[in-house]
Amino acid sequence: MSSAPLLSVGWTDHVTGRSGHLVVDRLVRGVASGGLRMREGCTVEEVTGLARGMTMKEALHYDPKARYVPLGGAKGGIDCDPRSPEAYGVLVRYLRAMRPYVERFWTTGEDLGLTQDLVDRAVAEAGLVSSVQAVYPLLDDEAAARARLADAFAIEVDGIGLDELVGGLGVAESVLTALDRADRGYAGTRVSVQGLGTMGGATARFLARAGLRVVAVADVRGTIVNPDGLDVEALLAARDAHGAVDRSALRPGDREEPGDAWLAAEAEVLVPAAVSYAIDAGNQGRITARWIAEAANMPVLPEAEEALAARGVTVLPDVVVNSCTNAWWWWTLFGDIEADADQAFAQVRGAMRTLVDGILDRAEADGTSPRAAAHALVDERLPQIADRYGWY
Ligand SMILES: NC(=O)c1ccc[n+]([C@@H]2O[C@H](COP(=O)([O-])OP(=O)(O)OC[C@H]3O[C@@H](n4cnc5c(N)ncnc54)[C@H](O)[C@@H]3O)[C@@H](O)[C@H]2O)c1
Repeated sequence: MSSAPLLSVGWTDHVTGRSGHLVVDRLVRGVASGGLRMREGCTVEEVTGLARGMTMKEALHYDPKARYVPLGGAKGGIDCDPRSPEAYGVLVRYLRAMRPYVERFWTTGEDLGLTQDLVDRAVAEAGLVSSVQAVYPLLDDEAAARARLADAFAIEVDGIGLDELVGGLGVAESVLTALDRADRGYAGTRVSVQGLGTMGGATARFLARAGLRVVAVADVRGTIVNPDGLDVEALLAARDAHGAVDRSALRPGDREEPGDAWLAAEAEVLVPAAVSYAIDAGNQGRITARWIAEAANMPVLPEAEEALAARGVTVLPDVVVNSCTNAWWWWTLFGDIEADADQAFAQVRGAMRTLVDGILDRAEADGTSPRAAAHALVDERLPQIADRYGWY
């Protein structure tokens, strides 16, 4: 893969002076897919890395027999605290500025700091039809496809929207696949999660339901710890719109610890599901886990990954394990699955088993990291996609 993105757009809000970015890494059939994040300190470098990651996630799900044909990769980012009073206005103005791109070639959705409901509201206020309208010309039956996606978004499973579950289910299934390969039983295997928003929340739910014990959960306010196991569903029900947990829901035995306590919690599985760059060379030595599943994008820095690999810690890479929110949108819109939770869950589980097994087999055979194996697979897939659909 070449290193420069296809397009990088900078934006400055004329009202607040806040900045934002859109990076399109690659187009396939004229379209690129990638969410929009909002966080204080968001940089163009971060957005560029995330856009590259989206190209990889799309390519990894290429199945020549499927209706969903992978798109290119893109990402949007706004440098603003999503909880600030001016955040919504900034979001609407950013989308107005990006309107030609959203109309023609950038399909987007929620990412860190934003919910899909908020993105949808701002999209309408910015005068757009939908955050994914650029893909409509590629659909066989646009009306049926849009109805199917709308129906899928209306589905809730035990109090959480299906769209907020599929990504974390993919992460959980990746973890279960790695445990199965190591002949490690689920019961009693301990998990520590950073972030209890869309990704972390759903990952915690599905791992707890598989029998694992969630012993630590961090949100923006700190870490909640219980070595005997947290009541995940109670914590999920006590979240605000930004994924922060109301501490009055804690049970006797639950302890509150500092924000970085999740990292060193005694657990076999660590799930960073909040911010990028959470695990670096300086703090990786505190990790006791055997597996790290990157629910967040780019949470483990390369130097840290090397040091972790040297002491036998497997990092299941973001481009593989957190790819299912994106894939589910397209499986649903293109018609590989119906608006049905059971079908969606089966599709996610099956796809992730195949992908994670394939990556781990390849890493073992080549003597490389799972991330290097995923990148090697992407390098094979991109020319196949380009042969079939052209380079842009
Ligand atoms: N939402 C998706 O579908 C999706 C898909 C793929 C990847 N991701 C990635 O997953 C990560 C999380 O996204 P999300 O949509 O779940 O976000 P979210 O906004 O729904 O939730 C973020 C969670 O992290 C917590 N948090 C924020 N800053 C923190 C900090 N410094 N320390 C500890 N906790 C902190 C918040 O309190 C909240 O619980 C991001 O890296 C995002 O790019 C998200």
